[in-house]
Amino acid sequence: MTKSPTWLLANWKMHGTAPQLRDWVTAVAAASTGDNNVQTALCPPFPLLTAAKSLLADDVWLGGQNLHTNTEGAFTGEVSANMLCEAGCRLVLVGHSERRQYQHETNEEIAAKAATAQQHGLIPVICLGETASERTAGQTEAVLERQLDAVLGCFHVGEPAPMIAYEPVWAIGTGCAASSSEIETAHRFIRQHLPEPEQTSVLYGGSVNRDNLNELLALPQVNGALVGSASLPPAHFADLIKIARARN
Ligand code: PGA
Repeated sequence: MTKSPTWLLANWKMHGTAPQLRDWVTAVAAASTGDNNVQTALCPPFPLLTAAKSLLADDVWLGGQNLHTNTEGAFTGEVSANMLCEAGCRLVLVGHSERRQYQHETNEEIAAKAATAQQHGLIPVICLGETASERTAGQTEAVLERQLDAVLGCFHVGEPAPMIAYEPVWAIGTGCAASSSEIETAHRFIRQHLPEPEQTSVLYGGSVNRDNLNELLALPQVNGALVGSASLPPAHFADLIKIARARN
């Protein structure tokens, strides 16, 4: 299993101001100097994208948190793939559980968004994972299989290849990350269903922080982390970078 590179994706969700962004960029730059095999990326709210692009070093990637399948049009409140590209994004989160929950995004819509991202040269980071009740009911693998089956077409379209982020809903924002064995089991299942299991980066997300990142990255199936809450405080995210770098 290739461990290269280790991804650290910061998902700011609907948080962050321009002054916070400046502090974050400074801390991340200090933690990132020199060659390494850790690829960091920031997914801020849309209004901060262009400021982030002008402040960030080129080796820190920029990502959107969502996109629309149309290029332009009367879709108030939406953002298109070409707008993300123009702002300097190289990847985009697709199908985050908060969008599945609050915007009722379906597996089919998520697949269409991932394909749209690829058509514009953006890497879709396809988020999937089961809820607490689905896990309790023994449906984890059935849920993951449905979510994966919907996006398998994206693995045949060509470059850029999608990434997968396994994010059990019950672990997101709860301070209670999945255990190593739960993550390993889910990641193994996910890889078995991928057309290019060895070539696909599969991340974990859900209450990742500086106390559990080292153990997470020790798992051979895991290619990095999608980080929410712990990505906001500059010093905390800088620590995550240092922990990941120390493993490489
Ligand atoms: P969390 O969020 O790290 O705050 O649990 C992760 C995510 O939603 O991507």
